[in-house]
Amino acid sequence: MIDEIVQQTSLEDLKNILNNNWRDGYTIPSARLYPFQWNWDAGFIALALSYFNQDRAMEEVEFMFKSQWDNGMLPHIAFHKQNDNYFPGPDIWKTDSLKNSSKSVSSTGITQPPVFGFILNRMQDQMQHHSEWRQFLNKIFPKVVAFHRYLYENRDPHQEGLVYIQHNWESGTDNSPLWDHIFESMDVSNARDVAHLRKDNKLVDASERPTNENYKRYIHLIDLFVACDYDDASIAASSPFLVQDVLFNSMLVKSNFGLIELGKYLNLDVAEIENWNKKTVQAINNKFWDETTGFYYAFDLRINKRIPIKVSSGFMPLFAGIASTDQAASLLINLTNSFMKNDNWYLCASCAFDEPSFNPLKYWRGPVWINVNWMLYHGLSYYGYTETAERIKKDSMELVEKHGCYEYFDPRPLGEAQDKRGIGADLFSWSAALYLDFVYNNEIF
Ligand code: GLC
Repeated sequence: MIDEIVQQTSLEDLKNILNNNWRDGYTIPSARLYPFQWNWDAGFIALALSYFNQDRAMEEVEFMFKSQWDNGMLPHIAFHKQNDNYFPGPDIWKTDSLKNSSKSVSSTGITQPPVFGFILNRMQDQMQHHSEWRQFLNKIFPKVVAFHRYLYENRDPHQEGLVYIQHNWESGTDNSPLWDHIFESMDVSNARDVAHLRKDNKLVDASERPTNENYKRYIHLIDLFVACDYDDASIAASSPFLVQDVLFNSMLVKSNFGLIELGKYLNLDVAEIENWNKKTVQAINNKFWDETTGFYYAFDLRINKRIPIKVSSGFMPLFAGIASTDQAASLLINLTNSFMKNDNWYLCASCAFDEPSFNPLKYWRGPVWINVNWMLYHGLSYYGYTETAERIKKDSMELVEKHGCYEYFDPRPLGEAQDKRGIGADLFSWSAALYLDFVYNNEIF
C-alpha cells in the first residue's frame, strides 16, 4: 500500500504545472486528456496567472475569446492547434463552415459555464496597475456581455431569466447523474457507434470514464446539432436535452455581478446587465429551490420537471449570493448530513453519498473537485460559515499536497478508500490554479 506519501508541493511546482501546460497563447487543462483550450478552465487559469504572469493572464483570456462566435456564443473548446489525441475533434463538430462560427479558430459548437465576468472582476485588484489592463478590459468587456446576451436571447425560450444547457458537456459537470434519465430514455435507433473512436478511456482507467453507451448518446446530440446547423431554436424544438442547471445559472449571476462592478469602473452603462441579473436571481429561488429538502435542483425543460438529485451544483447559489440566510442554513445542513458520511471524509463530494448514483471514483458522481470547493469556500465564507469554509479550504489544499494536482479526488479517507485518491488527469491546471488563489488572495468575494 502506498500509504500517505506526502508530495512536496511548493508554489513553484504548481506554477510549473501551468507553465508546462502553456502552449503559446493558452493553457491546456492537462496534456494527457485535454490537449486544447477549454472555456471555464481558461477562466480559473487566467486568475492564477494574474498573480505571477500578468501578460499571460490577459493572453489566456484573449485566446479564449478568439473562438467566440458572431452571435456571442463562447465555445467550450477552442481547437487552436491540431491534436489527434482527443475525441471528438473538429471533424465531428463541423462548425468551420457555419456562418456564425469564429473565422480564426476552430471550435466546438456548444458552450460552458460563464465564468469570465467574475474571473475578470477578481483579477482586477492585481491587474489594475498593469499599463495595458484598462485597454484590455475595454476590449474584452463587451465580448463577455455579448456572451451573456447570447444566453439570454437564445437559451431562455420562456423568458424566465433562466438559461438552459443543451449538452452535458455544457454543464461543466459532464458525468453528473443529473443527465442519466435523459440518456436512458433517448432514442438511439439512428445513433452511430463511436466506441472505436474514443481516446479518453484508453488514456485513463476506463472504469472511471463514461460507458460507450453514454458516449454514443453524447455524439448523437452533436450529430443532431450539426443537422440543425447549430440553430438554437431548431435544437430547442427537437433535442431531448434541455436543462436549466443550477451551477450554470449561478455562474451567470456571479458573472453578471462581476460585469456590473467592472462596467462601473469603466464608466459604462450596466442597466441591461442589472435587469438580467435581478430576474435570474429571483427565478433561481422560485424555480430551483425546494423548501421540503432545503436544496436547489436543476429543471428539465423537456419533461417540465425538477431533477430531484442532490449534487454539489446545488450549493452554487451560495457563491453567487442568491440564497437567503435561511436557505443558506438549510444548505449547510445538507452539506454536513449528505455530503460527508463521517467527519473523516473530505469535503465536498460532487454527489450526495445517500444518492443511489453516488460513486466515489467516477467523475462528477462523488469525487471532490477543487473548482467547486473553491466556489463553495467563498460562498460559505460570504454567509458567515467560516468554520466549514476553512475546512473546505484545508481539505482542498491537503488533497493536492498529499496526492498531487489531480483532476478530482476520492472523498473517502484512507482505510475506507483504496490507496489511490487522486483520479482522472494528472498535472491538472485548474487544481494548481485555484490552490494558488487560495494562497495568494484571502479576500472573500
Ligand atoms: C472535464 C470536466 C470539464 C472540464 C474539462 C477540461 O471534462 O468535466 O468541466 O472543463 O474536463 O478540464
